[in-house]
Amino acid sequence: MNVYDSAKMADVLAPHGYGLADSVDDADLVILNTCHIREKAAEKLYSDLGRLRIIKTARQALGKDLRIAVAGCVAQAQGDEILSRAPYTDLVVGPQSYQNLPELLAQAEIAGTRPAAVDFPEVSKFDGLADATQSGPAAFLTIQEGCDRFCTFCVVPYTRGAEYSRPVSDVVAEARRLVDLGARELTLLGQNVNAYHGAGDDGGAVSLAGLVRVLAEVPGLDRLRYTTSHPQDMTDDLIAAHGDSPKLMPALHLPVQSGSDRILAAMNRRHRADDYFRTIDALRIARPGMAISSDFIVGFPGETDDEFQATLDLVDHVQFAGAYSFKYSPRPGTPAADLDQVPEAVKTARLDVLQTLLDGQRDSFNRRAVGHTNAVLLERSGRHPGQLIGRTPYNQAIYVDADPDQLGTVVDVKITATKPNSLAGEIVGFKPPTETVMATGGVR
Ligand code: 5AD
Ligand code: SF4
Repeated sequence: MNVYDSAKMADVLAPHGYGLADSVDDADLVILNTCHIREKAAEKLYSDLGRLRIIKTARQALGKDLRIAVAGCVAQAQGDEILSRAPYTDLVVGPQSYQNLPELLAQAEIAGTRPAAVDFPEVSKFDGLADATQSGPAAFLTIQEGCDRFCTFCVVPYTRGAEYSRPVSDVVAEARRLVDLGARELTLLGQNVNAYHGAGDDGGAVSLAGLVRVLAEVPGLDRLRYTTSHPQDMTDDLIAAHGDSPKLMPALHLPVQSGSDRILAAMNRRHRADDYFRTIDALRIARPGMAISSDFIVGFPGETDDEFQATLDLVDHVQFAGAYSFKYSPRPGTPAADLDQVPEAVKTARLDVLQTLLDGQRDSFNRRAVGHTNAVLLERSGRHPGQLIGRTPYNQAIYVDADPDQLGTVVDVKITATKPNSLAGEIVGFKPPTETVMATGGVR
């Protein structure tokens, strides 16, 4: 979502004479877009600010300036602290206020103040955001923001605020615009995206499954994905959509966090491991071979060896195509931060065991794809001339030798080899635009 938000900030500032700079040396303004989800991400801000301060001071010695803005969830949570710990920061702006960036910059430049925009405004920020001006073949589109679930480890409900779903007509208009700009695949974004319930044209709420059906009709749009979902919001109609909406790609990121029922309850996840298994089974019946990925937290307060083992058992049972796993990081203001903490060395050891298991599952998922032919959307240039990077329906990055003109097209690729985080393949066929992309191969 921060990638999407950064692009939106560029779009908002474009009419005010700002363009993207290639490096800090060419920039008049630097916006650090920050993440507060774990402590490591938040701490990175202060080291980056320290580096920018040196450049700003050097510029000022020459009678020029470098404006420094801090955006994102750290700005939201620690606006005042940033302004006092890094007094050379010109402004801070939380995720709900990006539409006000031009005005905030004017305040900083003309009035000489250091504004902090960290309120949750009444009017949706989406109403004030500028239209996209460019898009790659695979684009992000935020359809939902904020979260009302209050998992006890998570800072999102405090930084992104209450759950909000954009109306269907807004989403469709943005999707059409992105397609006009060259997008063929959209990833629908939201902190809890499958809780989507945006207003339809008749005023009634439309579910994510309903939205997928509407977007599937947008001419030129071939592929849809969505992230990130909560297992408890995986409704029957959404599961069914994976079976009957061919444009919905057969890959789903469905974070489970833990395999222990006691830890899941302490996390306020409101489901048990068994419920997760049932959801996965239903998804795999609806769409055989679907790639399931997840997030995990190890060392949640009070997690015992047996409870960690329950996570390993869950992983063993599900067989994931990929995963992100993290050591629990106490976040200020969240309920779990006040509980007795697991020692750091225990967290490190558990993470190591879990990641080894998950890496093995990812590798075997990728290895099983070798020899199959998949429809691949060629998204961007590779490191070498003549190489393009695309994505299989199962969300695997794949390197192919291709003509640069083929960028943005869907081609049939025979998968020839696996690398740790990607595949390699050869183009064996070409798919004309808007043809329905049916997934093949990679079946578990
Ligand atoms: N500590 C560690 N990981 C966290 N996540 C969210 N909050 C924390 C935290 N306090 C992880 C979860 C979530 C992902 C986006 O980040 O696994 O799904
Ligand atoms: Fe955070 Fe996701 Fe839980 Fe919401 S559902 S509180 S975003 S972990």
